[in-house]
Amino acid sequence: MDINYIFKNNERWIEERLATDSDYFNKLSSGQNPQLLYIGCSDSRVSAEEIMGLKPGEVFVHRNISNVVGNIDLNTQSVVDFAIKHLNVAHIVVCGHYQCGGVKAAMQAKDLGLLNPWLRIIRDVYRLHAKELNSIEDDEKRYDRLVELNVVEQCINLIKIASVQEAYNKGAVTIHGWVMHLKSGRLIDLNIDIEKEMKHIKEVYNLGK
Ligand code: CO
Repeated sequence: MDINYIFKNNERWIEERLATDSDYFNKLSSGQNPQLLYIGCSDSRVSAEEIMGLKPGEVFVHRNISNVVGNIDLNTQSVVDFAIKHLNVAHIVVCGHYQCGGVKAAMQAKDLGLLNPWLRIIRDVYRLHAKELNSIEDDEKRYDRLVELNVVEQCINLIKIASVQEAYNKGAVTIHGWVMHLKSGRLIDLNIDIEKEMKHIKEVYNLGK
């Protein structure tokens, strides 16, 4: 890829924006007020704004390998805290995707070097749900299910964060777990019962005011 291609695209994008609204960049630079925090995978095929049909300014985005909400990952924790306390987002979405390379790697019982501590988070999801996953004979279906369960567990990791619990208790934020079906392009809502999960985890993680 010729890197100049990107700058040519950028020039064209600027022209297109200005053609529809000559004040576009003045408005864009005046501030952001996104209603949605999207936590997704870094996978190049799952581009957040494009699959959701959202424009610049409409979604606060955090992406990492396999859409993980790590307990001691200062990056994710800061993004979530900022989105809740300063942007006052109304929705947080964790979006996984089928054919996720990180999830596939986590399914191999193998030393993957620097990736080990990251993949361990997903391996722990497997361990938590080993009974269900091991009962699935078809390898592809087991892989797909781990993608879904990883989204469920990352949503649960979200509601373990004190600021998220507090906003949730006030009814200020709702949490959604989605999966992108790459073969059709469709976003699938896993319809996770956050209220039930919250009640369950509060026995141990009751941190919100
Ligand atoms: Co992925």
